[in-house]
Order: sequence, then structure tokens, then C-alpha cells
Amino acid sequence: MKIIADEIQSYVENYIDKEPFLLSELNKETHQKTMFPRMISGNYQGRLLSFLSKLVQPKYILEVGTYTGYASLCLAEGLAKDGKVITIEVDPELQIYSQKYFDLSELGHLVEQKIGDALDIVPSLEHEFDLIFLDADKMRYLDYYEALLPKLRKGGLLITDNVLWSGQVVDKRFDDKTTNSLREFNDYVASDERVDKIILPIRDGLFLIRKK
Ligand SMILES: C[S@@+](CC[C@H](N)C(=O)[O-])C[C@H]1O[C@@H](n2cnc3c(N)ncnc32)[C@H](O)[C@@H]1O
Repeated sequence: MKIIADEIQSYVENYIDKEPFLLSELNKETHQKTMFPRMISGNYQGRLLSFLSKLVQPKYILEVGTYTGYASLCLAEGLAKDGKVITIEVDPELQIYSQKYFDLSELGHLVEQKIGDALDIVPSLEHEFDLIFLDADKMRYLDYYEALLPKLRKGGLLITDNVLWSGQVVDKRFDDKTTNSLREFNDYVASDERVDKIILPIRDGLFLIRKK
């Protein structure tokens, strides 16, 4: 199911900031060389992540699911002075891409990558985060959510990707584990009084969650 009509999507993409050159190279290489390039945030969502990060001006950002590092660099664009992005990726083989582009980027020195399962790593992180981007395996979103919320500062923003799952969450014909776990996640957040929340129905659905 198309969440936004192609014509509207093409139209709005003409009215947003241009993709920075290095990110367009990373986007290209991800499409040429990785197995699941559609996992990358890409230009439209990347510009939104950059925009939100610039509004929050975070000192500490946490990303769960680095993939090739595209969103990490977009989020880094909004960092406050002396700020830092910590990004966690379970697959060590992806580091050849992410580290290459962190090294090439003028913001790369602000990004620290950790390799391993985020559910093992997150409890040991000492910072309180101003902005968190959750973009790992959808089946465990509820576990990540409960691990991440204590690490988010009051007033901080947790952005969760893919919560509409190509529209499958509203289509009764889909009864698979991933779709059902996203339905469960969305229901849980909707009734969670610890947070303010709103879903943006763009791309694959972004849940914006603010800790009260
Ligand atoms: C959708 S991709 C991330 C895309 C990236 N955030 C971006 O916007 O370009 C999801 C990534 O999460 C990683 N991942 C899955 N489970 C994970 C876990 N438990 N801990 C850390 N990373 C995980 C996958 O290997 C994959 O690279």
C-alpha cells in the first residue's frame, strides 16, 4: 500500500534541501553493494532527521541500527557544540561502509559506532540522550522501547521508524509476526502516559515520541 501518492512524493522532494554530496555517494554505494538498500533512510527522510535534530540541538544522540551510516550523519548535522552520536549496529560487516563515510565526513569524528546487539549495549550507556532514533529489527521494538525510554531525558525525542510497515498495519490480510509486533508496539505507545506521541505518515511511518 502506498502511504503517499508518487506524484505528491515527487513534488515535495523538489521543495526540500538538496542531498549533501557525500550522502548521495553513500546512498549510491549502499544501493550498488548491499543486500537490502531499501533499509537506508534516503534523502527525504534523511533531511527530516537532520531538520528534527537541528530543532532539538541535542548534545547526545543515540541511533539503534546504523546500517551504512546514512541517518547517523544526517542526525549529526543538528548536534550542539561538543555533542556526540552513538550508533549501534549488530552486523560487523556493514562497518566497511559506515566507517568509510564517517571517516570522509567532516562530522564523522562526532560519531561513535558500537558493534553488537543494542539490547546488550544500551543498558551500559552512561549518557542521558536528547534524541534517539530507533531503526532496528521491528520484532523487538517493544523491548528496545523499554530499554531506551530510561535513557531518554525528560523532554527528549524518540523517533521510531517503519511503524506503518508499508501500510500493512491497517490491512487485515497481513497476519505475520512483524506486522503484528508493530501493531502491538503502536498500541502500546498510544496508551503510554509517560510520553506525548504522534505518527507522521511519511515514507514508512515515523512515530515521534516525547518523554514527559
Ligand atoms: C533499517 S536498517 C537501519 C538504517 C539506518 N538507520 C538508516 O537510516 O540508514 C536496520 C539495521 O538494524 C540492524 N540491527 C538489527 N537488529 C539489531 C540489534 N539488535 N542491535 C543493533 N542493530 C541491529 C540491522 O543489522 C540493520 O543494519
